[in-house]
Amino acid sequence: MSLDGISQHLLICNGKTCTKNGAEEVTDTIRAELKALELQKEIHTTKTLCNGQCIYGPIAILYPQGIWYKKMNKAKSEELICQLNGKGNAHIGSELYYHDGKTFKNHEGEK
Ligand code: FES
Repeated sequence: MSLDGISQHLLICNGKTCTKNGAEEVTDTIRAELKALELQKEIHTTKTLCNGQCIYGPIAILYPQGIWYKKMNKAKSEELICQLNGKGNAHIGSELYYHDGKTFKNHEGEK
C-alpha cells in the first residue's frame, strides 16, 4: 500500500495482555472514528504484538510525535481521534511516554 498523504501512524497493541484488556474494542473504535471523520488517508493504523508495557495496556503509540498512550478504552479512543482531527497532537490525559526530540520521557501525573 502507498503511504502518500499519510501524516501520522497509530500503532495499536494487540498483544496477548492488551487484547485481554480490551485492545480489540480500542482498535475497532479507533478505526471506526477514523472512517467516520474520513481520516483514513491521513492517519494510518497498524495492529502490533506486545510493546513491552503490558501493565499499562491497552497501549496505543502515535508517530511521528512519539507519544505512548496507556490504559486505552473506547472513550479515550474516541477522544484521541477527535483531537487528532486537524491537529498534530492529542492530550487525552492518558499519556505514558513522550519524545523530547532525543529520548523518550515518562509522563508524570497522568491517569
Ligand atoms: S500486550 Fe500490549 S504491551 Fe504487552
